[in-house]
Amino acid sequence: MRAFVAIAAVLAAAGCKSGGAGDVDAGAVGCIERNPPEPAHVHTDGMTHAGLECFTCHQPGGAAGIVFEFAGTVFTRDNGPEGGVHIRIRDSLDRIRVEQTDDAGNFYVRAGSGLAFPVFVDVSACPTTERMNAMLTSPSQGNCNMCHDGGVLGRISINP
Ligand code: HEC
Ligand code: HEC
Repeated sequence: MRAFVAIAAVLAAAGCKSGGAGDVDAGAVGCIERNPPEPAHVHTDGMTHAGLECFTCHQPGGAAGIVFEFAGTVFTRDNGPEGGVHIRIRDSLDRIRVEQTDDAGNFYVRAGSGLAFPVFVDVSACPTTERMNAMLTSPSQGNCNMCHDGGVLGRISINP
């Protein structure tokens, strides 16, 4: 049985309240220490599906039968799996959810998180925090690898 990836509902006291949408400073809540990663979920086809668009199957009516609200993969600079780093999601009500990447670099948040769009996201491993400047505005954008496909837009990475 696969270990469940720890979900840390972090009540990060934002050091400074932002003036409005668009200028939330993820750095204000500090970096998150890297941890040893949990083993990735290996699908019945033997793959972790790292780098693929998780929502292809993990959406309502999808093949997985398990719906995710956020999911993707973090890569190292040389395109390897970046395990044990943290994805931080800050929703429109300033609630923060943190997920740790597994040893394939994958992370996910199951449906029912209660997080409200739009959200800001960053990836953190002390001393570095890489923030996505734009907000994710709709639930379909929880499918991180849809845009971060390694093409024109690179993979999600922390590049320590
Ligand atoms: C081609 C379809 C497909 C893709 C793409 C896919 N999955 Fe899955 N996933 C499944 C199916 C089917 C299951 C259930 C059976 C299994 O484990 O293979 C599943 C199960 C899971 C589970 C177990 C969930 C639970 O509650 O037991 C996790 C975790 C998971 N997938 C993560 C991911 C992540 C993260 C991605 C993207 C990086 C992803 N999957 C991409 C089809 C897919
Ligand atoms: C609709 C396309 C799109 C989706 C979906 C998307 N991103 Fe991004 N992301 C971008 C673009 C474009 C940039 C560069 C400009 C910026 O920062 O806004 C970026 C930049 C980033 C960065 C900073 C650069 C880096 O790689 O360190 C991080 C971190 C990031 N995104 C994480 C995520 C995560 C996590 C998700 C899913 C929860 C996600 N993104 C979903 C388009 C997207």
